[in-house]
Amino acid sequence: MIVNLNPLLKEARDHHYAVGAFNVYNYETIHSVIEAIKESNTSAIISFGEKYLSNMELKEVVNLIRTMTTELDQKVGIHLDHCKSFDVIKKAIDAGFTSVMIDGSHLPFEENVAITKEVVDYAHQFNVTVEAELGSLSLGSHSNEDDAEEIYTDPMKAREFVLQTNVDCLAVSIGTVHGLYKGEPQVSVERLIEIKDQIDIPFVLHGGSGTPLKTIQECIINGIAKINVNTEISSSIVKAISETVSKKPDTHFSVLSNQAKEAGKKTIVKYMEMFNSVKQ
Ligand code: 13P
Repeated sequence: MIVNLNPLLKEARDHHYAVGAFNVYNYETIHSVIEAIKESNTSAIISFGEKYLSNMELKEVVNLIRTMTTELDQKVGIHLDHCKSFDVIKKAIDAGFTSVMIDGSHLPFEENVAITKEVVDYAHQFNVTVEAELGSLSLGSHSNEDDAEEIYTDPMKAREFVLQTNVDCLAVSIGTVHGLYKGEPQVSVERLIEIKDQIDIPFVLHGGSGTPLKTIQECIINGIAKINVNTEISSSIVKAISETVSKKPDTHFSVLSNQAKEAGKKTIVKYMEMFNSVKQ
């Protein structure tokens, strides 16, 4: 069943777990998420970033997901991840995405508020839910995201931001990184608690790859309802394929394609278990 973020985040909050938002870039990765949903019998968000428009068109993403989920009972969101362009957001909504992320985190506060509010007013007319970001994450290794300065989310500003924009959920910066951690993860659950004390809205944790289970559990208890994973899906697939190709360079691509699907699925199932680990 294809849904927007509202039922997914509400259920996650009510039952104290986080819904995983898994990044996809092609048929294999979409297949990995759908097989993981079946195996784990859990809901999930299939997340496609603006950055990957050279890999797939928006309509292809939606059509493929819709075709592959007709028999699924579990709830599935089709989400546009990290998007800076209102034009691309409009195209994604036309194509059938059920939620979008307007990423104005690089903009001054007032400009981030203005573009986010504009997107929320537009998207809500089509029953499409909106995520925005305040603060920004730094870059770890193996990531495909843009480098950015680490700026923790300011709790008072988060309150003002949510009240002014009416956004459905907010991505917060509390020390996770996009990509694999270069050293010990330093995630400030205290900052998350300070934000939660200011505003009651589902929060999103970007930079899921490599985040320790204990940190994830503490984040879920303190308001994180959606967790994004990208890098480890990619790196686990690349590792599996590289091992095969290094042993047998003439391996047929159909074999590698199946290995990619399996490696991606394994990683996604692992994170689904971690995100559901405090489910009651
Ligand atoms: P990772 O690549 O660290 O898993 O982060 C993914 C993410 O936040 C996508 O928006």
